[in-house]
Amino acid sequence: MFDSVVVDNLGRHLRDLRISVTDRCNFRCRYCMPRERFGEEHTFLPRRAYLSFDEIEKVVLACKPLGLEKVRITGGEPLLRPDLPDLVSKLSAAGVETALTTNASLLSDPAERLAEAGLDRVTVSLDALDPKTHAQMTDSNIPVEAVLDGIEAAVRAGLSPVKVNCVVQRGVNEGEISPLVRKFRGTGVTVRFIEYMDVGRTNGWQLGQVVPTADVIAYLKEEFELEPVDSQRPSDVARRWAHSDGSGEVGFISSVSEPFCGDCVRARLSADGRLHTCLFASGGHDLRAIIQNGADGEALSDAIAAIWSRRDDRYSELRSERTAVLPRVEMSYIGG
Ligand code: GTP
Ligand code: 5AD
Ligand code: SF4
Ligand code: SF4
Repeated sequence: MFDSVVVDNLGRHLRDLRISVTDRCNFRCRYCMPRERFGEEHTFLPRRAYLSFDEIEKVVLACKPLGLEKVRITGGEPLLRPDLPDLVSKLSAAGVETALTTNASLLSDPAERLAEAGLDRVTVSLDALDPKTHAQMTDSNIPVEAVLDGIEAAVRAGLSPVKVNCVVQRGVNEGEISPLVRKFRGTGVTVRFIEYMDVGRTNGWQLGQVVPTADVIAYLKEEFELEPVDSQRPSDVARRWAHSDGSGEVGFISSVSEPFCGDCVRARLSADGRLHTCLFASGGHDLRAIIQNGADGEALSDAIAAIWSRRDDRYSELRSERTAVLPRVEMSYIGG
């Protein structure tokens, strides 16, 4: 029986759980769900395969004695589940910090209810303010205003600090970097620039499409006075920089140019209940079967601890021609 915090083979704790509640999305971002591969013929998870919210709660309660502090609800697009506030209530009652990553196009309406249910904060994916670039990147006709309304609603509901994630792709949205920083400076919203990653097998990733963080910082320094700020926790994925006049922060997530596997304390649960120990995993461990076979909380904890204690993933650090050919799950399935 494991009755205390668990560490993996490389000495890393299990502190964060990212929970995907659906593999569907109302956007078709080309770097995540290219329409050619996620079109009419694509088979999404059948809804009957989803873990119920009670089952998700069981997993979270089983991870708590192992050291879990924070959960992040992801997708696909998690707000496609209309009853999401019910899940938030359960997670927040479990005593873990609860955050949500969303494209925010459906956030305006439920923002207040999510906050009341106990959601702590929200991170919004937004790669462009320019309507044409936004439409191209999301491959949808949902306007950028819907996303901006969602961000405003999150701020009003106190889901702070609200963060904006921008995946930068060379030749696609570099021109959006400065406008995004200008737009959110002084609003309390932190924009974070993410290096485009080789997640999944469908986006045709090439190294040449990655804009390294060093280039983005050099570019921003031409217009803004920025200085580095210490991370809050070693396991934070973003490096922080602040405007020198105190008008806010900008973040950088550099998993290609500066991998952060050494401090990776994140597990991932797919909507169908598989536990993955890395974003680049080839497959996951079936917790749904364990729960549905009647395991109690302690047995589930033991099963998760056994999986975690065997973990030795550090994909981003090993990224090479050898790792490039291994099978990988899709971002929309595993939840980013
Ligand atoms: P907070 O630190 O709580 O704000 O959240 P977060 O930055 O962990 O979550 P978010 O969903 O905003 O993820 C930001 C980006 O970092 C996304 O592109 C994720 O795919 C990426 N990311 C998050 N965790 C990992 C990780 O463990 N490994 C890699 N390679 N990328 C990650
Ligand atoms: N590389 C980097 N970030 C990605 N995201 C989705 N696909 C990729 C990728 N290939 C981002 C989304 C979202 C977060 C969870 O992951 O934009 O903000
Ligand atoms: Fe949907 Fe987010 Fe993927 Fe875009 S990046 S398709 S918004 S899950
Ligand atoms: Fe963690 Fe895997 Fe990302 Fe490395 S590549 S930081 S081990 S999820």
